[in-house]
Amino acid sequence: MRGKNSLVSETVAALRISAIKEMAMLSATVEGAASLTWGLPSFRTPAHIRRAVEARLESDPEIGKYALPDGLPELRAVVAEHHQRATGTTTDPDENVIITAGNMQGLNAIFHVLLDPGDEIILTDPGFASHFHQIRLCRGVPVPWRLDEACGWSLDVEALPSLVTERTKAIVLVSPSNPTGKIFAEHELRRVGQIAKERNLLVVLDDPYSPFAYENAARVFNLASVPELSEHVSYHFTFSKSYAMSGWRLAYMIVPAALKGEVLKVHDATLICAPRISQLAGYAALTQRPVHLSEFESELAKRRALICERLDRVPHVFEYVRPEGAYYVFPRIVADHKDSAEFAIRLLEDTKVAVTPGSAFGPTGEHHVRMAYCVSDDVIETAFDRIENRFGL
Ligand SMILES: Cc1ncc(COP(=O)(O)O)c(C=O)c1O
Repeated sequence: MRGKNSLVSETVAALRISAIKEMAMLSATVEGAASLTWGLPSFRTPAHIRRAVEARLESDPEIGKYALPDGLPELRAVVAEHHQRATGTTTDPDENVIITAGNMQGLNAIFHVLLDPGDEIILTDPGFASHFHQIRLCRGVPVPWRLDEACGWSLDVEALPSLVTERTKAIVLVSPSNPTGKIFAEHELRRVGQIAKERNLLVVLDDPYSPFAYENAARVFNLASVPELSEHVSYHFTFSKSYAMSGWRLAYMIVPAALKGEVLKVHDATLICAPRISQLAGYAALTQRPVHLSEFESELAKRRALICERLDRVPHVFEYVRPEGAYYVFPRIVADHKDSAEFAIRLLEDTKVAVTPGSAFGPTGEHHVRMAYCVSDDVIETAFDRIENRFGL
């Protein structure tokens, strides 16, 4: 559908669906595939959340109606309390909080607010594939900020100032990171915040994974907790991963008061409001003790140990940096291959093992693959048995 007479805009024609979903869809057509493509936790939404929604479904006459565009007041109130407790910063449910239909939608809204065509946003490279697509969809330019694999995928803060131009609007950070599992150091994050403040940029903190930091929990630092950065941080938390609620499509964003009205314009023009039923689930999630979390985390820690053990057995196929958090590992391909896309397709065809090509996560991701270990032990074992069969031990 490209070309002068096409109905499709050049921007959309140039986009691709993310390779994560492309590989997930492709592997769904392969019977018996062992898929490590999608970061979709194998867990069920916790029972206490499901029970609370069940009760509201019966008793709440408003259940089938729109919520206010920025979200149900009772949910915004508990979100504000929760964020304030977590960060120590003053958070007002009316001034700062917006309930969204997942972080993808909240990020889409903030990128629309920030970007005129040709404006730039700095992203870690490798970084989350969909951020690149979202920025392009807003006619913006994603500017890759190379992470240092030799230093365990850490931030190269010294390189950051040289990436900032007159067109730069924001820096996006995810810690623990997707796809590397890296937890960025507090002093580096603080320096990023300082640079953002000096250059009048917004730091967009996309936070699906901070509850999954295993033995490194004390090292997770939330830049939203720095009071001097309150006008320079947009914080995005999603219920998708740590509450196993990816299908409910629910998240919240905490923005500087000056931006809330601007974000609401995009949010309202996009979907009016996040689904009310999901907001009620979110209310139940935040008002009851998250008893499921330690179970999720210890299960994921076991899976991390398993996938690392299996990777250790195939050093002639993959070299990797041990992930610190989230539930991804991002090994470099050392087996013979042309590029990561060709490797991933061939692996699927030859062995029925699905992984995501690293090139989807930015130029530095080339010659790597991403493996999501949020799947059951069985899937991890089957995938690596097949890899060992294909490449030998
Ligand atoms: C970094 C990052 N941001 C956002 C998302 C999507 O979040 P949501 O389900 O809230 O849209 C994901 C999902 O994998 C992710 O890894």
